[in-house]
Amino acid sequence: MFYLVTVADDSEKATSSHTTGPGHSSQAWSELAPDYERARSSEDSLDRLVEWPAQRTLLGDVAGLSLLDLGCGNGGKLAELVADGAASAVGVDASGNFLSAPPAGLEFIQGDLNEFDSLPGVAGRNFDRILFLQSFGYAKDPVLTLQSARAMLAEDGFILLTRTQPIRYALERADRNGTSLGEEYFSKASYTYRTRWNEEIAITKRTYTISDLINVFSAAGLWIETAVEPELSEDARRRYPHKQEWMNKHLGILIFKLRPLPGAIVAS
Ligand SMILES: C[S@@+](CC[C@H](N)C(=O)[O-])C[C@H]1O[C@@H](n2cnc3c(N)ncnc32)[C@H](O)[C@@H]1O
Repeated sequence: MFYLVTVADDSEKATSSHTTGPGHSSQAWSELAPDYERARSSEDSLDRLVEWPAQRTLLGDVAGLSLLDLGCGNGGKLAELVADGAASAVGVDASGNFLSAPPAGLEFIQGDLNEFDSLPGVAGRNFDRILFLQSFGYAKDPVLTLQSARAMLAEDGFILLTRTQPIRYALERADRNGTSLGEEYFSKASYTYRTRWNEEIAITKRTYTISDLINVFSAAGLWIETAVEPELSEDARRRYPHKQEWMNKHLGILIFKLRPLPGAIVAS
């Protein structure tokens, strides 16, 4: 089946080629999720080599903490955090492609991160850590989504959010279109490409810049405590030179640790 993924804002939003309207993001991700997880679990996946180690480092000691992962994929990262001592963890994902035997304390909810604060099992709760790991692009209203997450943070809580370096997409478009990096980076036109995880699925995205991201955090009443652009370790560079070659060109992801700005006036 061929899926065309269309976009409403700066997000990736998956829709079936033969249907339109809400809910199709979930339908396409139900198809894509196993391919994504297969790619992610491969020995040389960038998630395994670069992204998850950097995300895990920023999360720090999770013993006794409550976690909410929005767009959690199969929930494997949450399962590791529960094994590391997290007291409770909730994973929300549209695909419903969850680990079949989650450990005690880990709960999965098939749902839309655009409405996460009204989901049974999430509504009315507070969390010490709220994660958007390569899923924030699916927020239809990014500021509102972050405001809702901010409102659910427990005292001293923070949000960990990762997004692909927008320069990566600009480079790919510049190569494809014979244009320059700057033209593509600052372009406002959405663009379509086939995912690396499943060639049958094309994704249309709206462009974003780094300042767009920072302005969204600011508008949501959050400040950046830490920003990280993770790189391969020396050992991984030696073992997987093709991945270093990819990183040399595409740069990878951005990771932000976000905390509520004290006194910020934020719409509820
Ligand atoms: C690139 S994967 C990232 C998965 C995981 N967070 C990780 O770091 O490996 C994006 C995830 O977002 C989920 N997703 C896409 N749209 C969503 C939505 N509207 N609500 C909830 N999850 C969504 C997909 O099903 C997929 O699991």
